[in-house]
Amino acid sequence: MNKRFFITTAIDYVNGRPHLGHAYEKIVADTIARARRSLGREVYFLTGLDEHGQKVRQAAQAEGKPPQAYCDALAADWVAFAKKLGLSNEDFIRTTQPRHKKYVQAILTKLNNAGHFYKAVYRGYYSAREETFLTEKDRLPDGTFDSAYGEVIELEEQNYYFKLRDHQQWLIGFIEENPLFVQPAYRRNEVLGFLKNNALDDLCISRPASRLNWGIPVPFDPDFVTYVWFDALVNYISAPASAGEPDLCAAVDIPAAPDGPELWPADIHVIGKDILKFHAVYWPIMLRATGLPLPKQILVHGWWQKDGQKLSKSTGNIVDPVAVIDEWGLDAFRYYALRELDIGPDGNWTDAGFRSRYSAELANGLGNLVHRSLSMLKRYRNGIVPPKSDDLASDAQKAAGETRSMLEQNRLQAALQCIWALVTRGNQYVDQTAPFKMAKDPAQAQRLDGVLYSLAETCRVLAVLLWPFLPATAANIYAQLGLKEAPGRFADSAWGALPPGQAIAEPAALFPRKD
Ligand code: MSP
Repeated sequence: MNKRFFITTAIDYVNGRPHLGHAYEKIVADTIARARRSLGREVYFLTGLDEHGQKVRQAAQAEGKPPQAYCDALAADWVAFAKKLGLSNEDFIRTTQPRHKKYVQAILTKLNNAGHFYKAVYRGYYSAREETFLTEKDRLPDGTFDSAYGEVIELEEQNYYFKLRDHQQWLIGFIEENPLFVQPAYRRNEVLGFLKNNALDDLCISRPASRLNWGIPVPFDPDFVTYVWFDALVNYISAPASAGEPDLCAAVDIPAAPDGPELWPADIHVIGKDILKFHAVYWPIMLRATGLPLPKQILVHGWWQKDGQKLSKSTGNIVDPVAVIDEWGLDAFRYYALRELDIGPDGNWTDAGFRSRYSAELANGLGNLVHRSLSMLKRYRNGIVPPKSDDLASDAQKAAGETRSMLEQNRLQAALQCIWALVTRGNQYVDQTAPFKMAKDPAQAQRLDGVLYSLAETCRVLAVLLWPFLPATAANIYAQLGLKEAPGRFADSAWGALPPGQAIAEPAALFPRKD
């Protein structure tokens, strides 16, 4: 099978600066992508920006810039942000790119020709901020609309609608038959509950260009632009189609490159809980109507708060990932995000919690183990790896086996817990064997060799296990061990690969103590 493992993130609205929530999702996807590569798969990791629609146009207006110029300027910051997070993405899509617009228009044409759309007049309420139509059902008990909708206006306008009703039954059946399609299970139940208890309204897929001109023109009616969510979801297929994905090209009759990669269906769409309906209801229906298979999984993460309060620019309750990375290092940020919050529930960032994990788990846990193991090897054996020993082999193999199983299930937090069981075991082994005492007794030289080998080899195994999560730290451990290759292959976690006689490099602290 040549199909690559294809993983995506939500594409962020380009209407502000990236915050912790955006960073978290991208790091989750990046870690899964790296884990799959480490386990031997070829991976295609896609992320990007959602640049059309009312929100972006309003943000551009507020800065007095034409929307495209506004997007171009901000996109550079977001691309730099992806680098800052260490993302290993193969592609970065912007929905204003011609490759994307062309594909959206091709899908619209195909669906229109097949009779999936109709034109009708809408009369009712509209939230420009959320770019959504509201009904009486959306009113709060006091008769007003939620403040999140901003100003709600009454309007009457023509639009194109996508007939969703015919799709409700098969979608329920599909989700019931495919328990892994929406994960975690409680999100799947939420979708099923919604589908079983509500008749699906048809989806308005256009906006009159006279009211909102910032969007992809509807190819069969120049008076309209495409609804931003229809446009945005298509990024998951327009990007791989532009790389020549054969089935995606065939679906809309565009020529495929002869050696285009097999990518579709996507293996995982990583998204936040607020956009579940778009991904688990509208997106499958769009794909089915186009004649394409559905993605294998929608993996839904929760939302971060800080100090128990919503992240909010206006109240200043934010976590600036760039500031944290500049102060503490990228891997410390990645570690806290992935270790603190399992994929699913909501999480809470506290600066005290961050410092405490940094100090206990990174500096005193992993950092201390690696630093003292290599420093003792340097001091007592001149930095030359002694003959093999197997003292910690079974602990290391147990950790590797469990970590592999967690990675295969995308259970990143649990994988880190398995890895840290080995860190703790390593530190405990140093305390129990007390190599600094052995070093004073020439009769124990052979025993000391064994302890030093086991420790150095444990550090090496840890580097391999850690690579998807903390790539720079893993590479740093390998470099300190004097190893030339990269720790990016899970199979290298098998015990005993550190060659005796090898000279290690100078030990250096992985996580400098900050206190
Ligand atoms: N543009 C749409 C997505 C289109 S996908 C075809 C969008 N953009 S967004 O910028 O508002 O959000 C991007 C992602 O960030 C979403 O998955 C969202 O859930 C996530 N998060 C935004 N705030 C968040 C937190 N506070 N915590 C965790 N994730 C959060 O929606």
